Formats: sequence, C-alpha cells, structure tokens
Amino acid sequence: MHISVFGTGYVGLVAGACLAEVGHQVVCMDVNAERIAQLETGEVPIFEPGLSSIVAHNVAAGRLRFTSDAATAVNEGELLFIAVGTPSDEDGSADLRYVLEVARTIGEHMQGYKLVIDKSTVPVGTAEKVTAKITAALEARGANHAFNVCSNPEFMKEGAAIDDFTRGARIIVGTESEGVKQRMRECYAPYNRNHDKLMFMSVRAAELTKYAANAMLATKISFMNEIANLAERLEVDVEDVRRGIGSDPRIGYHFIYPGCGYGGSCFPKDVQALERTAHQYGYTPQLLSAVEAVNQRQKHTLYTKLESALGELEGKTIAVWGLAFKPDTDDMREAPSRTLMEALWQAGARVQAFDPEAMAECRRLYGERDDLVLVGDRIQAVKGADALVICTEWKEFRSVDFAWLSEQLKAKVIVDGRNLYTPEAVQGAGMRYLGVGRSSTE
Ligand code: UGA
Repeated sequence: MHISVFGTGYVGLVAGACLAEVGHQVVCMDVNAERIAQLETGEVPIFEPGLSSIVAHNVAAGRLRFTSDAATAVNEGELLFIAVGTPSDEDGSADLRYVLEVARTIGEHMQGYKLVIDKSTVPVGTAEKVTAKITAALEARGANHAFNVCSNPEFMKEGAAIDDFTRGARIIVGTESEGVKQRMRECYAPYNRNHDKLMFMSVRAAELTKYAANAMLATKISFMNEIANLAERLEVDVEDVRRGIGSDPRIGYHFIYPGCGYGGSCFPKDVQALERTAHQYGYTPQLLSAVEAVNQRQKHTLYTKLESALGELEGKTIAVWGLAFKPDTDDMREAPSRTLMEALWQAGARVQAFDPEAMAECRRLYGERDDLVLVGDRIQAVKGADALVICTEWKEFRSVDFAWLSEQLKAKVIVDGRNLYTPEAVQGAGMRYLGVGRSSTE
C-alpha cells in the first residue's frame, strides 16, 4: 500500500519505518525541513534502539522516503497517518494545532479519495474536528473528494517502540465504515498474523481507549507510590508488599514499581488532558486529579530525602546517576531528575551528573552553568560528591562496589529513587540508604 505519515517524531518515524519494513511504500513528511534533511542523510534524530537500522535498510530498499513537501505526501499516499505532536495547552488540555494543520493541508492538496488516520494521542471528538477541517479546506478550493477519518491510537513505549509496534497486544481502530476496516486490515496484515489483534470500535471509543490505557498505568504507579510513602512511615519495606500484591494475577507485577514519579511525554500530559476533557463534559474527576497530585509530590521526594539526610544543601555537591525519565531513551521530558536538579540549584547546591544517553539533551535544556557538571561516566560523577541520587534505573547502575562508593561520598548517603539496591548492601558498606518506601528510609 502507499502510505504517508505526517510527523517524524517517535510515533511517526517508528510507524513509518515499521510499515516500510513489511513492504509498504512509505513517505514520511515533516514541516521541519532541517529534520527531513537530517533523515535523508541517514541520521535518525531520536535515540530509539533498533530504529536507525530499520530506517537505513528501508531507505536503501527504496520503500521509505522523506519529504517536507506536503503536496507530495498527500498525493502519494492513499493512507495518510497523522502522527504529529499534541502538546499540553496552558490549561492542560491537548493542543490540537498541529493535528488540525495537517488536516487542513490534506484538504488543500488531495486530488482523490484519502483515508486519514489519527495516530496522535488526541481527545475524544478530534476525528470530528479533523473531518470538519478537511471539508472546509476542500470547500475553500471548490473541490469535492471523498475521504474517511478513523482513529488508530498508538501504544508504543519509548525504548521498546519497534517491538511494541510490531508485536503489540492490540491494534485499535475506531471507525464505522466497512471499507475503512478492510483497508486497515490490509495495512496491518503483516503484523496481525498469529491471532487477530485488530479491534474495531467507534471512533470516540478508540480515542478514549488511548487515554484510559495511559491513565490506568499512571494510576498504578501513583497508587504504588502512595503505598510506598505509607510503608516508609510504617517501617515496612514496600518491595515486600510489591511482590506480595503482584503475585495476584488480578493485580500483576507490571507497573507497580514505586519510584521517584512517572515522567515522559505521555503520562503527565495525557492524565491532565483526560482531566480537562472530563471537566469540559461537566464531570469532576477525582481519581485522575489525585493520580496527578501524587505524582507531583513524588517527584519532589528525592529532594526532601536529601534534605532530611544532609540538612542545609547550600554548597553541597550531589552526584546524580540517570537524567532520562526512564532507561533506554535520551528523553528528559517531565523527568524526575529535572525536579531534583532544579530544586538543588534553587537551594544553592551543585550537581555532578551522568546519564548513558541523555547528556546532550541535558546540555540542550540547561546550557552551561556553574552548578551543573556533566561528566563522562558514573565514577566521575561521585568524585568529591557529598551524596548520590539514582534517578533512572539504567542497567549499568545496577552493580556497584559499595565499599568504594562509601569512600567517595563525603556524607555517605545514597538516595535510591528506583530501589535498585538493597538497604543491607548499602548500609553494610557504612552508608545511609534512603530508598522509596523502604523501612530503612527514615
Ligand atoms: C507510555 C505507555 O507505557 C505506552 O503504552 C504509551 O503508548 C506511551 O506512554 C504513549 O502514550 O505514547 P512511555 O511514556 O514511553 O510509554 O514510558 P513508560 O515505560 O510507560 O514509563 C513511563 C514512566 O513511568 C517512567 O517515568 C517510568 O519510570 C515510570 N514507571 C513505570 C514507574 O515509576 N513505575 C513503574 O512500575 C512503571
């Protein structure tokens, strides 16, 4: 099939590359000409394991092309995926500016039937707005071409995006049209072989499913963080509780890891957007607001734990291991490390940080400053530091020589925001251990 994908961010680029990989003819379009030029030279601007090689392979095979020319993208594809960003508006609702801009472009250039597919995470009712935008653009040029708009939300995780796209649990398609169902079946057939993962539903149900999935996952995390905070005060190790409840298949082991709060470009934004949608429809959501509030507080716990252990933080040097919001990405959007570093700077402390992938992103975000030293490895980060904070559970942080670490850290304190270590191992080396929800924390 001939497919065009609008937007070359995580979702657009991964979807475009994976669809080309199974034989479709794909054009990826972005209004950012610089990004397109970069992609054309084979440079993939995001860190996502496996993506560069799939892009290179399909470009070489002639199945994947890049363009910043909207007319080319609209006319070469029969299926037009909208995969542009939906940032948060000032009030927390999803900003549909880019999605509707693509819709207008489609209406301005289309010369025949198009199936328009909303892949971006968009609030309930967006497909109707996209339809109206295309219709208006068609009318403005006196054209009359048939088109359909369907919803096909994406559930990929950063760091595992290729695997999630190619082996995801489900493919949700919101449409009432039999023709659209048929085309979507054909599009996804190569990824839908062993058992039928396609689920058809109404457009609105598909739109809501995406938000409900992320809100549910965020709820599990905030719930566990709440239990962790309580466990600390009850002198219970939350890791025992996590194992205990996870063994119940109705609860499960996934997404119940307590930590320093969820970050990234999805959960914080989507929980807030769903909250906004609820308000717009006259419903006051209590759980969603609490999920968000618990997370905000959780992101501050790294700082409060440090303060409780070290007292005055002014003039102190804090080593930070991990800056990305989670491992296997260089993404620092809404990362707990940022809440921590910004609070430390405010207090007059200095940060020595290392992350295996997010150093360039950190430099881009914060630039050169005296109170931030970005070092080349985890060992340099702790040299001369008073305490160490773990913000991201990168694999390379798992194994540590605690005796050596104890010699390095002046105040001999480890704040473990991801419960990577056992209190016994850290305390055994003569250090103070402050995990999340662990009996030894206070
Ligand atoms: C999330 C969802 O997991 C995807 O299914 C969804 O498609 C995506 O958002 C999206 O809407 O595009 P992602 O943001 O890449 O994916 O990251 P996750 O792996 O879900 O992690 C989110 C945050 O939750 C991270 O900060 C992570 O550290 C935190 N987390 C996760 C916990 O604190 N505890 C856990 O048990 C699990």
